[in-house]
Formats: sequence, structure tokens, C-alpha cells
Amino acid sequence: MKSFLATLAAAASLSLVSAAVDVHSLRYQTKDDSKIVPGAYIVELDQPVDALGRRSGENAHDALYSSLNKRGAKWSLRRQYDTPGIYLGAAINVASEKDLSTLADTPHVVSISPVYRRPRPKPVASRRLSTKDTHALKSFAPHVMTGVDKLHAEGIRGKGIKIAIIDTGVDYLHPALGKGFGPGFKVSHGKDFVGDDYTGYNDPVPDNDPMDCDGHGTHVSGIIGANKNPYNFTGVAPESTLGMYKIFGCVGDTVDDVIIAALLKAYHDQHDIISLSLGDPTIGWSEGGIGPIVSRIAATGVVITAASANVGEYGAFYVASPSTGKDVISVASVESTQLIVQYIKLSNGHSPIPYYSVDAVNIPGSLPLYATSTDTTVEADACSALPESTPNLSKYVVLIRRGGCSFGDKADNVMAHGAKYILYYNNVVDPVYLQITDFVTAMISQADGEYLVGQYAKKANLKLSFPQDQTPSLIASPLGGLISSFSAYGPTWDLAFKPNVAAPGGNILSTLPRSQESYGVNSGTSMATPFTAGAAALILQKRGKGKDNALAVRGLLQSTGKAVPSSKKSSDPLQTLAQAGAGLLNVYEAVHGKTVVTPAQLALNDTAYSKPEHTITIKNTSNKVQKYKITHVPAGTINPFDSHQQAIGYPVPLDEHYAKVTFKPSTLEVQPGKSAKFVATIHPPTGVNSTIFPVYSGFLKVASADDSVHVSYMGVAGKMKDMKIWDRTPDYFGDSGPFLIDAEGNIQTGPETYRWQSDTDYPALVCRMLAGSAVVSIDLVSANTKLDARGVDSVNATANIPRSTLANRRHHRRLSHNFVDLSSSGAPEGAASMDSMDGRRLDGRAPKETNTFAKLPVVGNLLEGHYIGRNTDGTSDENGYNYFAPVTPTFANGTAIPNGKYKILIRALKVTGDPKKESDYDAWLSPVVIVDYEN
Ligand SMILES: *[C@@H]1O[C@H](CO)[C@@H](O)[C@H](O)[C@H]1NC(C)=O
Ligand SMILES: *[C@@H]1O[C@H](CO)[C@@H](O)[C@H](O)[C@H]1NC(C)=O
Ligand SMILES: *[C@@H]1O[C@H](CO)[C@@H](O)[C@H](O)[C@H]1NC(C)=O
Ligand SMILES: *[C@@H]1O[C@H](CO)[C@@H](O)[C@H](O)[C@H]1NC(C)=O
Ligand SMILES: *[C@@H]1O[C@H](CO)[C@@H](O)[C@H](O)[C@H]1NC(C)=O
Ligand SMILES: *[C@@H]1O[C@H](CO)[C@@H](O)[C@H](O)[C@H]1NC(C)=O
Repeated sequence: MKSFLATLAAAASLSLVSAAVDVHSLRYQTKDDSKIVPGAYIVELDQPVDALGRRSGENAHDALYSSLNKRGAKWSLRRQYDTPGIYLGAAINVASEKDLSTLADTPHVVSISPVYRRPRPKPVASRRLSTKDTHALKSFAPHVMTGVDKLHAEGIRGKGIKIAIIDTGVDYLHPALGKGFGPGFKVSHGKDFVGDDYTGYNDPVPDNDPMDCDGHGTHVSGIIGANKNPYNFTGVAPESTLGMYKIFGCVGDTVDDVIIAALLKAYHDQHDIISLSLGDPTIGWSEGGIGPIVSRIAATGVVITAASANVGEYGAFYVASPSTGKDVISVASVESTQLIVQYIKLSNGHSPIPYYSVDAVNIPGSLPLYATSTDTTVEADACSALPESTPNLSKYVVLIRRGGCSFGDKADNVMAHGAKYILYYNNVVDPVYLQITDFVTAMISQADGEYLVGQYAKKANLKLSFPQDQTPSLIASPLGGLISSFSAYGPTWDLAFKPNVAAPGGNILSTLPRSQESYGVNSGTSMATPFTAGAAALILQKRGKGKDNALAVRGLLQSTGKAVPSSKKSSDPLQTLAQAGAGLLNVYEAVHGKTVVTPAQLALNDTAYSKPEHTITIKNTSNKVQKYKITHVPAGTINPFDSHQQAIGYPVPLDEHYAKVTFKPSTLEVQPGKSAKFVATIHPPTGVNSTIFPVYSGFLKVASADDSVHVSYMGVAGKMKDMKIWDRTPDYFGDSGPFLIDAEGNIQTGPETYRWQSDTDYPALVCRMLAGSAVVSIDLVSANTKLDARGVDSVNATANIPRSTLANRRHHRRLSHNFVDLSSSGAPEGAASMDSMDGRRLDGRAPKETNTFAKLPVVGNLLEGHYIGRNTDGTSDENGYNYFAPVTPTFANGTAIPNGKYKILIRALKVTGDPKKESDYDAWLSPVVIVDYEN
């Protein structure tokens, strides 16, 4: 099989297919799909204190280990974390659910989370150069767009700034990356936490050599630090010093406990900046995952940049953790304004046609064209086998329209007829630097493709030639300066302002390992993230290091950001800040600007929690009086959901219902070195449809004769608590969810008996979440249980609010748990037993209605999870649905479920809901499940 460097596939066809997944296929997932490492948990510990609240001499780790031993738990240590002020804890393997239960019940345990596998970062598209010709580019658009070129001209290049990169490693022997490793070299330090052979499924074998065997980390490193090279570009901060913390092998995934170890080591090694081109949008909350650890490091004054993720196609409220962390800079991607191209010569004298490649493709001589279809609107060109009558294509340049299936599938179909040279023509404006190994291929624009197909259809006998020694040309990108279609949309479920800023990430030339032709063009928020890290280095070099300056970097980048349009039409609104953040970096102004506004961003929350008045401070750091005028500049309001509350993918529709904003005062004179305040009163837009939760955003512009900065705002014109959590529509599966499926893979409609006598003889719960939830609980309840008269949306379960949410905040044991794929992992199915509150009525409120759930206690908990994001309509992103199955007939704590008749109750706390209030949960109750197994 070929390997595809471009994974873009059919990104150009975004329409939602209904009944995307066959329910019957769900039962037979293979073990390897597991996102969770079986039996592995990360345990956070608190610092032991004595009776007076002082740090005691007791060691929390020793206390944990000896308690586990004393109680006979079977366990082993994966890693120990001991970074005072940031993170105290351990990663531990336990043998059974009982041992997990013991672990949860141990002194100083603050929280427990399963160890997740995280996929390696992949660029959205990637094309390598060939080594044969190198030609200097006349200018480098990403630096021109952001003013980095002007800072370089002033000699500001990141000198004295130390940057950690957590990634796949770096080819430090690359001529543009310093040709060495260790003190005195550009890549002066680092570590490989896993070894090249690591896949996420075997044991890490760490060493001290972070050499890259993937390519991603080398591309990222070059964006920050590349030296001038034959292509005549540099990194944003080429004089900075880099540390590489390699957390991936050559293929496969990594795991959370490795990421935490790398983060803590990077923190320990005292960097000014940490760059994280990785993240997981399936969380989507400020908390959850490794977000809190990253936030704590950021709060100490380390600038942290993190990718917002390449998931724009899935719509709003889907932005990656840990970029969601409080002081973290979440970075969106903007398309480069320039495309680097080569030209095709046509035998008919037509002007040469550009193709997206830095260097010439190796197609010899002059060849005729073969189009797989003469229809220039064909939906799935070459997506199935070509007709028998197709000639041997080895002597043709084969022309195929994009869309309908992956580029690789198309290549396979023409390869079956001998094709060697392929041109794909676009079906959308988005240009792709595409490469398929073993194939000579490139992409051209839609218009040029249609012209060529026209000539072919006319039998014009056109021949194409590909001059081999051309200097690459620079042409304007049709999407230059716009947000990349793949860039994720925020905000978070708790309505944090994310993403924070945007940087060039679409079609970026940088270094690749020497084994991969040394240079290449990649696209992704993975590229925008190191760009922003480099920008932070230039700011810190000029404005000075130190905690306060580091914590001010995000605000400087945001307040000086350039507003991003939503299209090339000037009549269209500005792009929503939910995708663009505070705008495209203007690093020159962030370094030199003389006006500082604080706060630089306002997360306005929803209409239940917003307050209209906001006080903004303007500081004039210049040496003359500045007179400021304050005005409102709205951006487009997005309508994120359809009438079923299914998220709408890119482009999320924009409208022009804007917030009403007034200022007091609206002009201000500020003396040199002094500050002044104004109050902005912001009312959410009216005339919008609050049932689809519009996200509004915009800028409060503060401009003087010399400076123009802004405060960015974002809020929801609706009440988050009104969001449904469970998808009860048939939109995805063809059947209305949630549902239980039985041993045969059929949806259970009446009572069914499960005996646990074969691999599939247990109920499996399949459910989709339309919105995120901070608390999801799956419980076994009595078979008599009914939801109250109001039907399915709420439950009166006073006695049985998910337990951990009621515990004392500091001491409760929390399990962050997404419940995808648990059945297949063989992992302990559930959460740890949280507290011993079973059956205890907590708020003393007597239920009025008879025959409601409140009278019937929960029999036992099967799973509790925290900070879970929504599912998507995707079938290939592994987040289409959640799946939970008790593969052994046990409760979450490992105790056997007694044989009997039950129902399964799932509850999810609504966004902003009160965990103690049953009506704030969205609940669903299953048909009767009869548990009947041999003891
Ligand atoms: C290299 O790039 C710089 C701008 O970054 C430009 O001034 C110079 O002319 C370029 N060199 C060549 C040979 O094109
Ligand atoms: C096409 O022709 C080439 C060379 O003439 C030959 O090597 C190849 O096997 C042919 N392929 C097919 C699929 O007929
Ligand atoms: C919005 O309000 C909710 C409810 O009070 C709160 O939990 C959340 O943290 C707020 N979000 C922000 C960004 O302040
Ligand atoms: C608001 O949106 C919902 C869901 O799409 C729709 O049913 C309703 O008619 C809309 N209301 C208005 C006033 O447009
Ligand atoms: C649950 O019980 C409370 C108190 O008895 C009652 O007011 C409420 O209507 C019931 N149902 C819901 C949906 O909360
Ligand atoms: C485990 O949970 C079940 C159901 O809540 C409970 O009956 C049992 O006592 C618990 N076992 C332990 C050891 O805590």
C-alpha cells in the first residue's frame, strides 16, 4: 500500500450523510481501537499538611504506595511526578477494578484519570521539496503578513530566549537547524521520552537523543528557528535556543503520562516559552485532560502556545485542550498570502498554468492529457474503477477532479491502468500542497482544470510539459489572509475566549528532516502554533523577560491583532472571533506599540451570566500625550447549530446581528506613562434565534494618531443551560438514540437477558452528545424506575446526584473519563468508587410526585466522567459517538452486580447546570436489562 502524505481526503465535500454509521457494526470493534491504556491511571496527590495546615514532612508518594501495599492492592508504578507548585502525582497500573477502588480510597488522592492515548499530530496537507534545485524566494509571506520581517531588519531575532517544543523530535543535523545538538548549538538540549520504536502500545525506552523520525517536529522547529537557507527564509526567532522534548516514536500514538512528564521536564528546564502543536478537541472544556497542568505552568510566567486543532469541519464548540487552558495561548491558522508555484507549459500557446509545488515535478518531455471525466462538475471523479476501455495511462498526464473520495483512492484507480503522472484540479478555492508517495502529482486550480478538461473534450491534442529548472514563482493566494477552513471553532463549553489569536498556518514552507528532502510545505494549526511561540520570543527579547511580561504577551498579541475578514468580499462581515480569535498576529506592533489595553479579551458568557458593563484600562507608554477614540467594530455572528442542535461544520453560517455597545467616555486623553479607564456597555444582539445559541463577537477599538489596538469580546446570545445533551434524533445512526445494543448488535426495545457467556453477551450503551457536559453518570437502577411525567428530559433523583460532584471540592476524587471504546479495551469499565454516599439523601427535599425516580435509589454506579465534549457528525474522526459496555458484570468499583432486573440510567449535567439539582441533568432511561450470569 502507498502511504499518503496528504490526509485531506474529501475535505472539500462537507455535507452530512445521514445514518452515517451502521449500528450493527459497533459490537465488533477490535481491541486496538482503544483510546485508553488498560489499567493505567494518573493520580494527582495533594501536599500533606499537618494539623496546623503547614506542609508536613510526610511524603505523599510514600503515603500512597504504602497504603496501596498495606491494603493488598496489585499495582505498579509507571511514573512519578514531583514538581512542587505544579503537579504532585503518579501514573500507576492497577490489576483490577478493585485495586482501582483502593487507589481512589487512598489518602492525598485529589483526582484519578485514565491514561489516554493521543494520536500524533498530522499536518492537514504536506508536500516535500526535491533536493535537486534550490532557488531563493524573493520574500517570505508569513513574515511579511505579521511584521516579523521588519523586526528582523531591526535585529530582533529572539536572542537570549529559550523555547521548548514538545513534538516528534527534530533533525538537529539539518543545515538550517544548526547541524548539531547540545550546548552551543541551536537545539541545545532535550530528551526523547519514548524511543523511536514507541507506538503508544508498548513500553517507552527513553534516551537523550530527540532526533526526529517523523517530520512534524522538524517542520515546527524550522518555523521557530530555521537559519537562512537556499530557499532564503528563516524562522520567526532564528536566534532563540531550542529544546526538543520528543514524545512520539516514528509511528503511532503517545499517552498522557508521557505528555505530562515532558511538560514537567520542560518546566523544570526553565524555558521562557513552551510550544505545543498538539491537542484534543474532544474535551473542549477549560478543565479536563492535561489542561489544568498546562494552565498552572502558564500561570507561573511561561508563555505557552497550543494548537486550536484542525477540526473546523466539525463546527463550533470544538477547540482542543490543552489550548483551552486559562493562561494558554490557543492559536488559530490563517492562510499564507502567497502560494509558491511552478508552471506547466501548454503546446497550444495558452499562458502557462501554475501548480502548487515549490520545485518542478519530475515529468519528462511533453505528454498528452487524459481526463478521467469530461464533466467538470463530476462529484466523485475516479472514485471507482475506470472502464475496461481505458487505455494504458503510463504515457499521459492524467487529470482528475478533486472530491468524493481521497486523493489516494483516485490514484489507486488510475494506477490500475498504468498511470504515473497525476494532476488533480480543485473543486473549491482552497489550494492544497499535495503529495502521494510513489506518485508524481500536484494540484492545479479549479479554473485551470476546467480549461484543460475543455481542451481534452474538444480533442485539441494538447500536450503538457513541466520545465525542470524553473525558479519557484510567488502568486497571490485566493484565500490569503483568511482563516484556514480547517482551523477549529471555539469557544469552550464554559465559554472561555478560545482560540485567542491567529497566525500563518496554511501552506507554510519550513524545514523537514534531511531524509525527507529537507524542506516542505505543510498546513495546520500545528504550524501557526510555533509561529506564535516565535512571536512571543521577539516580544520577550525586546520588552524583557520576567513573569509579568510573560503573562502580558497574550494580551499584547491580541490587542494588536489584525481583524480577519470572512471572505474576499469587502461587504461580508469580519470572521467570527470564535474561529479567528483576536485576529492575525501583528508582531511588529506587539513589540513596539505604545498603547496597552487590559483586559485584552472579554469572555462575555451567555445571557444568563453576562454582565453588560466592563471597565477597560488604557496605558499610554509613549513619551507624549495620546488622544484616543473608542469605537465598536463587530464581527459576524455565527449560528452554530441546526434545528436538531446538530453542529454545523465549516463554514459555520454568519449573520449581521451585532451586539449593541456604548462607551463612557468614548474619547480619552492620556498623559505619557499614565493610564485611564473607560466603561464599555455591551448588550448581546437582539433579533437572533437564541434556540440555536448564536455566538457573537467583535472588537472595542481604541485608536490614537499613532496606535490602534483593540479589546476582543465573545459571548453567546442564548442560555447554555437550554442545550440538550443527548442526541435523540436518528440523524447519525438512522435510529433514535441513545440506545442499548444486545449480543446480536440489535437495538434493544424490550426487556432482554444478558449472561456474559460470550465476548458480546452484555448490553452496550451507545449515545451521542450534542453538547459537552461537566458530569456524566451511568448508573444501574431498579427495573421499576420511570422518568417523571415530563418525559425524558429530566429525572427526579434527589438521592442520587452523581456522588463525586457533591463531595468537598478539595478532597473529592475525580475521574475524568470519556467513555468511548471502553468495552473493547478490556480496561476497568468504570470510574473509581468516589465517596461512600450511596443512597444517602443529600438535600432532604422530599419528592412530591409518586412513582418518580426519586423514590428509587440508584443500585450502583457503572461509570462517571467529567469534562466531556460533544460528538461530531464525522465517521472517521473516532468521535461520532460514545460507547460503553460492562464487559464484566460489575459496578465501577469492581463489586459484582447481583443477578436481577435493572434499567440503565444515563445523566449528563447541562452546561452551567448546578450539579446538585436534578432538573439540571439531561437523563435517559433504558429498557429493562436482566442480569443473569453463572456465579
Ligand atoms: C531573500 O529575502 C529577502 C527578504 O527576506 C530579500 O530582500 C532578498 O532579495 C531575497 N534574496 C533573493 C536572492 O531573492
Ligand atoms: C502500461 O504500459 C507500460 C509500459 O508500456 C507497462 O509497463 C505497464 O505494465 C502497462 N500497464 C498496464 C496496466 O497495462
Ligand atoms: C460563565 O458562567 C458559568 C456559570 O457561572 C461559569 O461556570 C463559567 O466559568 C463562566 N465562563 C467564563 C469564561 O467566565
Ligand atoms: C429558531 O430556530 C428553531 C430551530 O431551528 C426554529 O424551530 C424556530 O422556528 C426559530 N425561531 C425563529 C423565530 O426563527
Ligand atoms: C421533581 O421533583 C420536584 C420536587 O418534588 C418537583 O418540583 C419537580 O416538578 C419534579 N420534576 C422535575 C422535572 O424536576
Ligand atoms: C460498590 O458499589 C456497589 C453499588 O453501589 C455497592 O453496593 C458496594 O458496596 C460497593 N463496594 C465497595 C467495596 O465499595
